[in-house]
Amino acid sequence: MWALAGTGTYYLEINCAMPSVDENKQWWNDGYVWKQGGDEWSRAWGGVDMQWHAAVLPRIHSFVPAGRILEIAPGFGRWTQYLTGLCDHLIAVDLSENAIEHCRQRFAGDTNIDFFVNDGSSLEMVPDASIDFVFSFDSLVHASADVLRAYLLQIARKLTRDGVAFLHHSNLGEYTRYFSAVEKIPPRGQPLLKKVGLEYRTHWRDPGMTAGRLREFAQEAGLICISQELFGWGGSRRLIDAISMVTLPESKWTRPLRLLRNEDFVRDISVIARLAPLYSADSFPASAE
Ligand SMILES: C[S@@+](CC[C@H](N)C(=O)[O-])C[C@H]1O[C@@H](n2cnc3c(N)ncnc32)[C@H](O)[C@@H]1O
Repeated sequence: MWALAGTGTYYLEINCAMPSVDENKQWWNDGYVWKQGGDEWSRAWGGVDMQWHAAVLPRIHSFVPAGRILEIAPGFGRWTQYLTGLCDHLIAVDLSENAIEHCRQRFAGDTNIDFFVNDGSSLEMVPDASIDFVFSFDSLVHASADVLRAYLLQIARKLTRDGVAFLHHSNLGEYTRYFSAVEKIPPRGQPLLKKVGLEYRTHWRDPGMTAGRLREFAQEAGLICISQELFGWGGSRRLIDAISMVTLPESKWTRPLRLLRNEDFVRDISVIARLAPLYSADSFPASAE
């Protein structure tokens, strides 16, 4: 079912089950070898430092520093290492016990973080009306629509009046017809698709999730969706991912939805990587000291 690519990146072949909470737990807790603690996924950007400063931070800079941040699904803490310095208090919640144990050790010196293992959808450990910024990046793309709905219903209660949530999730559902057609091709024929420039990997995105569904869930939760950026991932030309930002209706951030179909996201990754040898923090000898 699982396939590990030689570079240390992972992917799941398309003809496997859609990602459930149990499968996520099985994979991230017991299956995946966190050789570089997730830093391996930042290689295309020229490293974690470049991805954070040139791709993630520009998208969230209006909302940080913040008083209290909630990070959903931190993994081994690739983004936690930056978020901790951008708030008074950070709560980080992940369904993997191993990931949370690793974070507890890695951030033992950071007294402003509380880590929790959850069941893949509960935020019961977070006090109501206490969170100024919810952050989740490169995790909930593997979560089903049910999970996103459950998180949004709770986020509506956890946010402070001006709180905002920044959620990276799947938009694969927009391409269901394409990928179900591809799925009918036997596995050995699939590399041929690549040769002729057609994609055959879903990067384990959830096929039942779309940006449209996120808006429906936000509305059901009483939240306003203020932006959605749709983009490709892992070289995909199809916009299989989305980042949605939501806030409460009375929040100062409320505005009509701004939606961008960002066809340049994948190209921008290589632009950022090209700058890494000059500007990345770890490009300087001092970083090795
Ligand atoms: C690909 S890793 C990414 C981790 C981190 N966000 C990063 O970018 O390095 C996915 C993480 O999401 C967690 N995860 C997946 N589904 C989840 C869910 N429904 N609730 C909480 N954590 C989840 C996994 O346990 C894993 O730690």
